Amino acid sequence: MAAIGINRETIRKAWSAVGVVRPVFRQHRWRLLAGFLALAGVNSLQLIIPRIIRQTVDNLQQGIATQAGLLHFALLVLLISLGIGVCRFGWRYLILGFSRILEVDLRNALFAHLLTLDRPYFQKKPPGELMALASNDLSAVQMACGMGLIAFSDALFMSMATLGFMAYIHPGLTLLTVLPMPLLAGLTSYLSARIHHRFKKVQEQFSRLTEFSRDTLSSIRLVKVYTQEQDRTERFNTLGQSYVRDNLRLALVQGTLFPVSGMVANVSMLLVLYFGGRLTIRGAITIGDFAAFISYLFMLTWPIMALGWVANLFQLGVTSLHRIKTVLDAAPKLIEPAAPLPLPAVSQGFALRHLTFGYAPSLPPALKDLSLTIGPGVLGVVGRTGSGKSTLCQLLARLYPVPEASLFLEEQDINRLPLAGVRSQIAYLPQEVLVFSDTVAANIAMGKPDASPAEIETAARAAAIHGEILAMPQGYQTRIGEKGATLSGGQRQRLALARTLLLNRPILILDDGLSAVDTQTEHAIIANLRPYLAQKICIIVSHRLQALADADRLVVLAEGRVVEDGTHVELLANGGLYATIHAHQGMQEGCQ
Ligand SMILES: Nc1ncnc2c1ncn2[C@@H]1O[C@H](COP(=O)(O)OP(=O)(O)OP(=O)(O)O)[C@@H](O)[C@H]1O
Ligand SMILES: [Mg+2]
Repeated sequence: MAAIGINRETIRKAWSAVGVVRPVFRQHRWRLLAGFLALAGVNSLQLIIPRIIRQTVDNLQQGIATQAGLLHFALLVLLISLGIGVCRFGWRYLILGFSRILEVDLRNALFAHLLTLDRPYFQKKPPGELMALASNDLSAVQMACGMGLIAFSDALFMSMATLGFMAYIHPGLTLLTVLPMPLLAGLTSYLSARIHHRFKKVQEQFSRLTEFSRDTLSSIRLVKVYTQEQDRTERFNTLGQSYVRDNLRLALVQGTLFPVSGMVANVSMLLVLYFGGRLTIRGAITIGDFAAFISYLFMLTWPIMALGWVANLFQLGVTSLHRIKTVLDAAPKLIEPAAPLPLPAVSQGFALRHLTFGYAPSLPPALKDLSLTIGPGVLGVVGRTGSGKSTLCQLLARLYPVPEASLFLEEQDINRLPLAGVRSQIAYLPQEVLVFSDTVAANIAMGKPDASPAEIETAARAAAIHGEILAMPQGYQTRIGEKGATLSGGQRQRLALARTLLLNRPILILDDGLSAVDTQTEHAIIANLRPYLAQKICIIVSHRLQALADADRLVVLAEGRVVEDGTHVELLANGGLYATIHAHQGMQEGCQ
């Protein structure tokens, strides 16, 4: 075992990681079997050649070789080479093809699983790390399961068979030849451990590099405005240099593995030449035996070296597979209840009872002991920045887990209701607008891909963006650049609003979704929506009190608590935080 640098912990890890790929192996077992048979075919045929050499040499030496006999042997070698060619094509096609299938299956499983995970997970795992996983780690697994597996079976079969044939010629000489192998075992074990460690460093550095470039390119406008091009280029350069340095360190150890294996093989050759030669002189073996022995030793060289290489490939493959497994094992924090209650029809809305929520145990809670009922009509939510408005919206939209018996929908604890069912009742417009590089129509219809053009248009009209869409070069079929680069901030927001309205669900949550349009337009849009909103349960967050002045009810949040609750008129009369913010905003409007 030490020969390929494996200890008990590695085996345990490898075994548990292999569980990920086991079903794929099982599914393609016949293909693999055929592939390995082809591989065994190549090896068996190869092993015959030294026997032919032995026969030829002995015939020549004994003077019984004839021209016809030599031609016969030559034709035999040709035929064997042909067979080797066909079998080699077979195993390459079958086994390497399998490793590609495995890679694709694993990539699909990874992608599908990532989509089941929730926001808390993606906050911990940056996209760069996940991208590295999907490229580097998957290809390391593919290499281990393709070439690694082939080389391993090849090495095992060839070394066993070659040793058998060698032992048949002369057991003592064979024993002598394998003497240097424990040395090779120790060295490979040591070097493999170093490779494992350095490969990890390279992977980490690569993920830092991708994350940095993704981050820079996605905030290119900011980089330009702050004239950070030079600085960013230098930082990228530094990261690149570290990546090269880590790679060179890895290459250094990887590079020693092969020369060391080769040297050990040459020591064996030296022993055969000397001791085998002496045996031949003494007549203990024939010259043909000696020639065949050397041929077998040449054949043994590759399996010995392959063991080192395979150890390397397997180490990398297992490391990567383990990393992939941790992602596949990650469970969303928000889980489907074991026995969900049937989803009630939404009419009364939400009730929050002493809800306390924090993003992480180490952070102070963002919402503290919040109690609130949210029924039909428009509820305006206001409050200073950081007061917990978005947190409230995200909890209602079921993006983060909430404690038991703190959030109720239709008087049912939300944790008992089916997750997708609850989400299907809610249309949520997040504070940070997301648009995709697709057509305007596809962006609006994202939540309802089968929406008719008429439905899309109605939603766009309600979001007051229809006119601007018509003015675009291809109207609703205009493609918008990545992240909506070709749209203005207000257009992006109204496009996202249209997408939300198109869903036409009983609960509507708009988290400051119109902050980039002017106050009058925001007010006009909300006023236009009133007939549509009257039937629904609506939560609208805005920084501008004027936009929410006609809301049925308003709550003011401060430091994660509800500090005021009432209508616009009542709150003004209260003379509290709402009245203060109102007076302040009134002055600003007056100044404009
Ligand atoms: N993903 C997060 N992880 C950790 N803390 C967060 C996260 N999102 C928000 N917070 C913190 O929670 C608190 C409430 O944030 P929240 O986004 O709900 O405020 P907000 O009222 O929506 O503010 P704004 O008006 O600026 O949008 C803040 O202290 C904020 O720093
Ligand atoms: Mg917010």
